Amino acid sequence: MSDIFLDTLKGKSTHRPPVWFMRQAGRVLPSYLALKEQYTFWQMMKDPELAARVTLLPIDDLGVDAAILFSDILVIPYAMGMGLDFTDQGPVFEQPLKDTNNPLQRLNPDAQKLQYIYNAIDKILETPGNDKPLIGFCGAPLTVMLFMLQGLGTKSNFTDAEKFFFREKALTRKIADAVTELTIHYALQQVKHGVSAFQLFDTHAGIVPFTFYQEVFMPSVKKIADAVRKTGTPFIFFPKGIGTGIQSINHDTCDFMSVDWQTNLYTARKLVDKNVGLQGNLDPRILFASRDTIRKELYSFIPFHQQESKWIFNLGHGLVPGIPVENVKFVVDFIKQVHWES
Ligand code: CP3
Repeated sequence: MSDIFLDTLKGKSTHRPPVWFMRQAGRVLPSYLALKEQYTFWQMMKDPELAARVTLLPIDDLGVDAAILFSDILVIPYAMGMGLDFTDQGPVFEQPLKDTNNPLQRLNPDAQKLQYIYNAIDKILETPGNDKPLIGFCGAPLTVMLFMLQGLGTKSNFTDAEKFFFREKALTRKIADAVTELTIHYALQQVKHGVSAFQLFDTHAGIVPFTFYQEVFMPSVKKIADAVRKTGTPFIFFPKGIGTGIQSINHDTCDFMSVDWQTNLYTARKLVDKNVGLQGNLDPRILFASRDTIRKELYSFIPFHQQESKWIFNLGHGLVPGIPVENVKFVVDFIKQVHWES
């Protein structure tokens, strides 16, 4: 069966780009915010019925072309035995690795602790009437380890974790290996349960120099990518903030690269290997602007589609809380209705 999102990932040209949004479920939808009044984030993630319902909300409410599993990148450290709470201030680990003498010994991977997520995938795919592809995902080891080491998330202050990376490079690699091993198992289980594409989020890839990234973290990214791609599942990589490092992204690394809002999409096209498709990259904050501004910005993508069929419309990072949902819907309608051909 033909599907605009999967066709594009496979390199077939389509009459318009497919559209979905990073963080499309958990940040701006009134239907989600209403559920959040009733349940905690953990409850929603752990109950397969609820997780399935939330995963599918953006399909019904926004009309996007794909759903992304409702979960979090930090389920991996949780399954490695790290106590985790999601608070109003963001995720908080009970005992950050920076405070322990032997971090590797503290980790106790238990793949069984991810079962609730596979149950959610089963539920999503059993939902009557749902014919949209499901995107599986996980975090890349660098981004996941920043949270594991630092312990507290949203303030984007990872100073102690950064110090750890530089002071303890060998140990950083070992922890990355442990995270990678469980991540691969997790990713393959998601595929086995039926996700039809996979995205690796490396939101903080730009926190270290690209040479350091390549040496210490890229081998893990490659291992995860290889494992997923061996199953025939298209693999999207989002290395946010790696700047000119995108020149080194080639078809060995991923099928598609998700471009951040810092990078001009046309420049990305010049720098990234031609065999790699692109995804992105509207700045989510433009969705706070007027309709005219949004429309103008969207028109600027039309020539891009004319030159590049391997392109998925998305944001340059996730939706931001407070963005008017009507503006998000406006983007989807625009993408679906505008005349893309010259
Ligand atoms: O649409 C979706 O929300 C899809 C599911 C999803 C969540 N997190 C749910 C979530 C996805 C794809 C993620 C990825 C994620 N989680 C990333 C990478 C992508 C990005 O946006 O940078 C990162 C760095 C995290 C770690 C994380 N989890 C943070 C920093 C926070 C707090 C702030 C926030 O809302 O992102 C979380 C909690 C979290 N993850 C919530 C949701 C819906 C909020 C929970 C709550 O409101 O209590």
